[in-house]
Amino acid sequence: MKLFDVYPLNNITITKALGSYVWNDAGTQFLDMYGGHAVISIGHTHPYWVSKIEAQLKQIAFYSNSVIIPLQQQLADKLGKLSGKNDYQLFLCNSGAEANENALKLASFHNGKKKIIAFNKSFHGRTSLAVAATDNPSIVAPVNETENVVFLPFNDEAALTNYFEIHGNEVSSVIVEGIQGVGGINVANNSFLQLIRSLCNQYNAVYIADSVQCGYGRSGKFFAHDFAEVNADIYSMAKGMGNGFPIGGILIAPHIQPKYGLLGTTFGGNQLACAAALAVLEVIENENLIDNAQVAGNYLFQQLQKISEIQNIRGRGLMIGFDVPEHLKDLKKTLLHQFHVFTGEAKPNVIRLLPSLAISKKQADEFLVALKAAIETSK
Ligand SMILES: Cc1ncc(COP(=O)(O)O)c(C=O)c1O
Repeated sequence: MKLFDVYPLNNITITKALGSYVWNDAGTQFLDMYGGHAVISIGHTHPYWVSKIEAQLKQIAFYSNSVIIPLQQQLADKLGKLSGKNDYQLFLCNSGAEANENALKLASFHNGKKKIIAFNKSFHGRTSLAVAATDNPSIVAPVNETENVVFLPFNDEAALTNYFEIHGNEVSSVIVEGIQGVGGINVANNSFLQLIRSLCNQYNAVYIADSVQCGYGRSGKFFAHDFAEVNADIYSMAKGMGNGFPIGGILIAPHIQPKYGLLGTTFGGNQLACAAALAVLEVIENENLIDNAQVAGNYLFQQLQKISEIQNIRGRGLMIGFDVPEHLKDLKKTLLHQFHVFTGEAKPNVIRLLPSLAISKKQADEFLVALKAAIETSK
């Protein structure tokens, strides 16, 4: 049987990983500045995380949400503590798209309204509502098309105010990434997020903070949206949550009431996933990884600004993007194949850095040396 061919693949097979490094089947070491698409939060195969998953596997891996799973409450308590959203409620699922799907649906259940505001260059996932709220028509199937989603320009306060003034009573939710990831690392202005908060209050709409990529400490705060110092009604999370173990979830503000059957999932919140996610939070806390994201991120940012060939350095913490001029368009490939460094990209010409939150200064320097050499080679 053939694999369904939907991914353009790098011709590399990774067989081992540790911290910020991975190794291919020939034993070549690569520095991972991509974190497997922002997923690796505490570092590949972190020994504590491995030991917690192993121990849990020997106890029980899965039982459905028809029984009490104490690990879910432990995870909720730890999440409340580290995120500062102690009074929120947790619903667990398996991926980022699912988290957003549940968030959008819950918002509509909550206020009985239908219209969703999303923004240009947004990415929220590939399930039906999440993809409908994603600004990329090529991944929206005809069956996903809906008039319930409207796209407004990102960071455009006048356009947002204007839309609410005319259609505010129909708006169920506003979904926004704190830092757009797939869209090319675009930081939401604090005043823009504050305006979303106040318009949602005024019109009884739900503010959904898509934190799937920019959340979980990556920005140097637990949620990138926290920089604006206003709370969202729902935060969606996935990627860094399990450090590679599939788990997602939403944090739900106290005023949104649950009801039996409102949301549900077979696999979400299973024992093994919770053990992995709990281990991630324990490591984030014990190793001060959110502070490290800020310090290492600032260092990288400052050093990148000294490299004249790259442009428009932007981002927060360890979510950094920069533009690559036309004559360096193969920079990402050169970094990978000649200098053995994984980076991310965004169309048409953005390199994205999404390393583990545990990256050291030495590893950041290793990247900067490789980047400068790759620029020289590509000239
Ligand atoms: C901001 C954002 N939201 C949602 C998703 C979808 O997550 P998943 O691929 O786990 O469904 C992604 C994935 O890249 C994302 O970056």
